[in-house]
Amino acid sequence: MRSSDLAKLKDVPFYWNDEQRLECVMVMPETRNAKTFFFKVDDDQLFNYEPGQFITIEVPTENGILHRSYTLSTTPSRPLSIGITVKRQEDGQGGSAWLLDNLKLGDSIKAYGPSGVFSCRSHPAKKYLFISAGSGITPMISMLRWLYDYSVHTDITFIHCAARPSEILFRDEVEHMSKRDPDIKVSWIVKDTDRYDVWTGFQGRFNQIMLELIAPDFASREIFCCGSEGFMQSVRDILHAEEFDMAQYHEESFGAPIYTQADTPEHDDVVPADDVEAAIHFNSLNTEVACKQTDTLLSVAKEVGIVIPSACMFGVCGSCKIKKTSGEVHMIHNGGISDAEVESGYVLACCSRAIGRVVLEV
Ligand code: FES
Repeated sequence: MRSSDLAKLKDVPFYWNDEQRLECVMVMPETRNAKTFFFKVDDDQLFNYEPGQFITIEVPTENGILHRSYTLSTTPSRPLSIGITVKRQEDGQGGSAWLLDNLKLGDSIKAYGPSGVFSCRSHPAKKYLFISAGSGITPMISMLRWLYDYSVHTDITFIHCAARPSEILFRDEVEHMSKRDPDIKVSWIVKDTDRYDVWTGFQGRFNQIMLELIAPDFASREIFCCGSEGFMQSVRDILHAEEFDMAQYHEESFGAPIYTQADTPEHDDVVPADDVEAAIHFNSLNTEVACKQTDTLLSVAKEVGIVIPSACMFGVCGSCKIKKTSGEVHMIHNGGISDAEVESGYVLACCSRAIGRVVLEV
């Protein structure tokens, strides 16, 4: 931060809110298939978020607007800009590819958020174990930078898995932090090595033996995990086999959760029925629509022409959060909304269904 920026901090009373568009102010290549995009707001407002949270952005592809969620890889301890690190997804729907190929300095984008509850700040602990794979490193680097900047001196073991050494995002920076702060220990695990490059670290798939070698005291750590669904499933399987207390386990995912019998959440509330009528009143149109208990608020809104931003469609990203003025909904989400937001009347439109008559602010 420059001294002129420091002086500015005193004069900026407001934080970015998602009604303001973001301007791309820097594009930084990270690896052969990933870049970090940094954004600011026109009038240099600051950004306030939890390390590990994400934003959902509108990606204007040739086939229409896609809503895609990306973790903020930056840290709120450096509040003048935010950044997302985007890796090309060969099997994706084109959102990441569009950003990598088209987004450039000076472009402005619409974004929603920040959202998400995956943050070490919500789970203070003396010892952490961060486990990630591929672009799942983005919330980990945000939390590491935040803990490092604040000199929290928390004992952190960080395990990251990548396809090969040259694809490890933020490798130099993490190793630099680890060298300067003895509380941060890092282990990289790669599937393959790079040609002409010596690799002395772990190689293969992350497994129980590696866990015990790298973090023998893992049972006493608060664990944060992020990666593909398959990767997180394998981590959960290892932890279940070790009889780890899963109350100390947190994961972030932008894919539909896959549960085994061991970790299927139990719900004891009402199950919406297809043959029961409900009604939704939309305040913005002053219109009331009859629907079934099984219809989501999002689908009914769409029928009457109300566009609610949505990305994941299963209660993870939080982009479809709307305010409910009255009535009851049946909502089963996957972490895209906090208890405090639910208390204040917010619901996720993609995974909420009206029970009786519901009034929405949209
Ligand atoms: S669309 Fe992601 S939580 Fe609803």
